[in-house]
Amino acid sequence: MTEHENKTAKPLVHLGITRPEELSALFADLRGRFDADCACAHDESSWKQFRDAWLGRKSGVLTQITDNWLKPATLELKRAVGAALNELRAHVEAKIEERRLTIESGAEESALARERVDLSLPGVMRPVGSHHLIRQVFQEIEDIFVSIGFSVVEGPEIETPYYNFEALNIPEFHPVRDDMDTFYLELPKSAKTPLLLRTHTSPMQIRTMEKQKPPVRVIVPGKVYRRDNPDATHSFAFHQIEGLAVDTDITFCDFTGTIEYFVKQFFGPSVKTRFRPSYFPFTEPSVEFDVSCPFCGGTGTAASGGTCSKCKGAAWIELFGAGMVDPAVYGFVNPAHGGGYDPKKVSGFAFGIGIDRLAMLKYGIDDIQVFFQNDVRFLRQFP
Ligand code: FA5
Repeated sequence: MTEHENKTAKPLVHLGITRPEELSALFADLRGRFDADCACAHDESSWKQFRDAWLGRKSGVLTQITDNWLKPATLELKRAVGAALNELRAHVEAKIEERRLTIESGAEESALARERVDLSLPGVMRPVGSHHLIRQVFQEIEDIFVSIGFSVVEGPEIETPYYNFEALNIPEFHPVRDDMDTFYLELPKSAKTPLLLRTHTSPMQIRTMEKQKPPVRVIVPGKVYRRDNPDATHSFAFHQIEGLAVDTDITFCDFTGTIEYFVKQFFGPSVKTRFRPSYFPFTEPSVEFDVSCPFCGGTGTAASGGTCSKCKGAAWIELFGAGMVDPAVYGFVNPAHGGGYDPKKVSGFAFGIGIDRLAMLKYGIDDIQVFFQNDVRFLRQFP
């Protein structure tokens, strides 16, 4: 308990004050103590304590003065105590309010300072990702074909056996289906047709021709699936780009010229191309396209003098399958849609490029699995 609290708890007579002129020192002392207390109220909670100590109704200093000094004062003293008390009250109330405003604006200022955005600070750096190498290779190939008049279309990854096989001249029990064993969806017994994950992008040949009349020039990038065991060159999900060009006057020369143009754009002008006879039920004739090994310059010999490890000394690397569209395929194009494709009037070529292996070849990657592992140490090599 402070001294002034002590004094205000006692009647004036106990303090030895009997005359009005003795009051001024007493009140001056009180005022001095109030001012000192006031400086100590620097935040909201200490201000409240300070206010209650002086203005509290029950036991605040001013209440004590009223109860202990004013009320029991002699007639001679009463008027002077009342006047001095009023003066002190006005001072106390004004100062306490002033202090409240100061503390409030100080709190606002410090809140503002806390929340102020410092524009000179360096920003938070968010790591920026990049396209996956497979996406980049898709883009490279799309750019090349778009530049010679092809457009890009996409198709469903879930297919019917009709579009994936039958309409491509692959009837049930055809041995070629063994190479493209796939994943079938579990469907209710009432389902009208089985559904499977497409084994190649070729179903889009039929779907595209059903939608548009010749001339057709499209490429179809997308994911495909096969029940192949994963190893360095096989994955059960991989990527292909289908190509299809059909018109009234497309020849084998157009076909080889287009493929050669693509290969030289993709691998560089110095590579050579060749094709070998092959077999696909939906192309006739069918070919396998090879490129002269871009790593050893088509010599089969590595710079070190040994056998080239990429082409294993063969000087050529197999790229993809292709061919002239088998006339039988046109018969599967529903005449109600594309207006029908008369095999006597139209001709065309198709190709199917395995993107993963092409990317491996171009960028010297020796395991297809790295494309699916999402290891950033690999991904960062292809920003
Ligand atoms: C086909 O898929 C034919 N649809 C391609 C075609 C289209 C021929 C149009 C003629 C006309 P094939 O089964 O060979 O063909 O597969 C094409 C490419 O897919 C292969 O050359 C290979 O690069 C890639 N491929 C096949 N199986 C896998 C696999 N499990 N993992 C990664 N790539 C594969």
